[in-house]
Amino acid sequence: MPSTRPRVLSGIQPTAGSFHLGNYLGAVRQWVALQESHDAFYMVVDLHAITVPQDPVELRANTRLAAAQLLAAGLDPERCTLFVQSHVPEHAQLAWIMNCLAGFGEASRMTQFKDKSAKHGAGNATVGLFTYPILQVADILLYQANQVPVGEDQRQHIELTRDLADRFNGRFGETFTVPEPYILKETAKIYDLQDPSIKMSKSASTPKGLINLLDDPKTTAKKVKSAVTDTDTVIKYDTENKPGVSNLLSIYSTLTGKAIAELEAEYEGKMYGALKTDLAEVMVEFVTPFRTRTQQYLDDPETLDSLLAKGAEKARAVAAETLATAYDKVGLLPAKH
Ligand code: TRP
Repeated sequence: MPSTRPRVLSGIQPTAGSFHLGNYLGAVRQWVALQESHDAFYMVVDLHAITVPQDPVELRANTRLAAAQLLAAGLDPERCTLFVQSHVPEHAQLAWIMNCLAGFGEASRMTQFKDKSAKHGAGNATVGLFTYPILQVADILLYQANQVPVGEDQRQHIELTRDLADRFNGRFGETFTVPEPYILKETAKIYDLQDPSIKMSKSASTPKGLINLLDDPKTTAKKVKSAVTDTDTVIKYDTENKPGVSNLLSIYSTLTGKAIAELEAEYEGKMYGALKTDLAEVMVEFVTPFRTRTQQYLDDPETLDSLLAKGAEKARAVAAETLATAYDKVGLLPAKH
């Protein structure tokens, strides 16, 4: 039975190894929630990953690892469609059509490309990195997604998706749903524990600021306890003057569901050490079962691969239909059966 729920689609790159707390609280947790209210499609975007050099053995392992962590975080293959991008060949096929619709100037204005290519040295970026956003456009349009849950950094790619969907529809007739960005809440933004002025990320200056969900829980507790605060002693949410303490409070609040005001009241008159000790405990309680579940999937790659194959089959049914329509509209001669 076709679903009447709005459709969401999102993707995550299999490049990080362990998810970190920022990925989880900023995105993955929302993905899990959306599978209850939406017809949700989620994928591990391995084709996007190879826009920069990847070690083949690591890429394969990281693709399974990303899928295992998504399942461990609560994605349920009965409630959503979880798959690996390269298992659905229509992504690359529709991307070609979109490449032929996108302007060179338009693609050149993508700020993420500019940032990433600068990092690899001007002139060293691949053509794949340049057309990365166009592949993302294809990812989204193939599923006729209504909403795309992403971070603010992806807004420009969603705008491009809308532009290309409109252009295609205008030129060839109504074909694609024009999706809306579903920008994940700013409050879910998690900062580096050692430098709360920067977002928690894999490329942080020191590993002490980064909570990897698959770290040994003892390491996690230690990192929380050595988080940077300030020389004051008051436990109060004030991102401007107390970014470190505020970050700890928002992590605490998101993991426990307790309101920040409630936490402020609870810790009134207490020391930073008390807050850190309690948060470390909350964190360890969260990461321990997450690690166990992830490991269970990794220990049984056959089951994991079967789940992904089923997901790809479901995804492909939708993608193939959209691609056939798009090929037809463009005027490609169908192969005779
Ligand atoms: N570019 C996205 C990111 O880096 C990942 C991605 C690829 C994606 N395809 C997508 C996100 C389709 C949403 C929809 O986060």
